[in-house]
Amino acid sequence: MALPTKNKSVVLITGASSGFGLLMSLAFAEAGYFVIASMRHLTKKEFVLKPARDKGVEKNISCMKLDITHQEEIDSVVPEIIECYGGVDILINNAGYAAGGFVEEVPLEDWRGQFETNVFGLIALTKAILPHMRRKKHGTIINLSSVSGKMALPGLAPYASSKFAVEGFSEALRLEMLPYGVHVVLIEPGSYQTDIWSKGMNELNVRPDSPYNADTQTLMKMVSRIAQTADNPEEVAQLAVKLAQMDEPDLRYPVGRRTKNAIRLKSLLPWKWFERATLKKVGFRNKT
Ligand SMILES: NC(=O)c1ccc[n+]([C@@H]2O[C@H](COP(=O)([O-])OP(=O)(O)OC[C@H]3O[C@@H](n4cnc5c(N)ncnc54)[C@H](OP(=O)(O)O)[C@@H]3O)[C@@H](O)[C@H]2O)c1
Repeated sequence: MALPTKNKSVVLITGASSGFGLLMSLAFAEAGYFVIASMRHLTKKEFVLKPARDKGVEKNISCMKLDITHQEEIDSVVPEIIECYGGVDILINNAGYAAGGFVEEVPLEDWRGQFETNVFGLIALTKAILPHMRRKKHGTIINLSSVSGKMALPGLAPYASSKFAVEGFSEALRLEMLPYGVHVVLIEPGSYQTDIWSKGMNELNVRPDSPYNADTQTLMKMVSRIAQTADNPEEVAQLAVKLAQMDEPDLRYPVGRRTKNAIRLKSLLPWKWFERATLKKVGFRNKT
């Protein structure tokens, strides 16, 4: 197990086996932090360690097994981290996935699964780390929200509602922890080229007799269009490092080519205009 040298800030990242989590692990290691790259399957640790070796920063990374939906893993991993590394300076709640589908058709267990990971897993790990940050009066918690945490698209209700929950949770926690010098920060990415597009959304199965069949096809085309033109995820990794280095970071950081404009438009336009424009863009036809 790699150990941090004295005075090196310790970063704990969840979901480090791919996408933003992997890139953030490398970016923080390159920036001189000590990274605990946690992942639910340690069989994937070479995905992080191989590029880390190539960049000469392997000594700055330790991989740990952590499935954030398993409370018993949190209960054993967090004390181990505190004992070995003396604490966590930066917690990055990154692990997550996108479940899609039309509200009527998504089985309740899939709704629960989405919230177990994106919301309750994030809360459980945060709760385990908080007492240490509070006692030290120091720390930054970076939560990966999404543009979907600010505006919800049809066909993506499970994902959007989980990210709206992350937004509310983070806003309240920020106010609870500011008096202790602990900062809570939200990154709100638009669309980036990671595995997220091929994981959850590919499982969108609808019954052949579903009234949502045509809209599902339209939705899948839109998602595949977005995935193909998505931005480079390295941008988000670099932003996370920048935020960790700030003494007084703000709460929200929208990132991505069209993200800020889309969020601004939603707050400026009358709701009826905005929903008409959104349905037109998504390509759903009126059925009445
Ligand atoms: N890419 C985008 O366009 C985008 C936009 C906005 C927000 N986000 C958010 O960014 C975060 C990272 O997503 P990504 O785009 O980098 O997708 P990704 O490449 O699919 O990475 C997601 C990571 O989360 C891990 N994970 C899933 N469930 C987990 C669990 N229960 N415990 C621990 N790890 C778990 C996955 O592990 P496995 O390898 O084992 O599956 C994977 O490492 C997510 O919160 C996502 O909602 C992404």
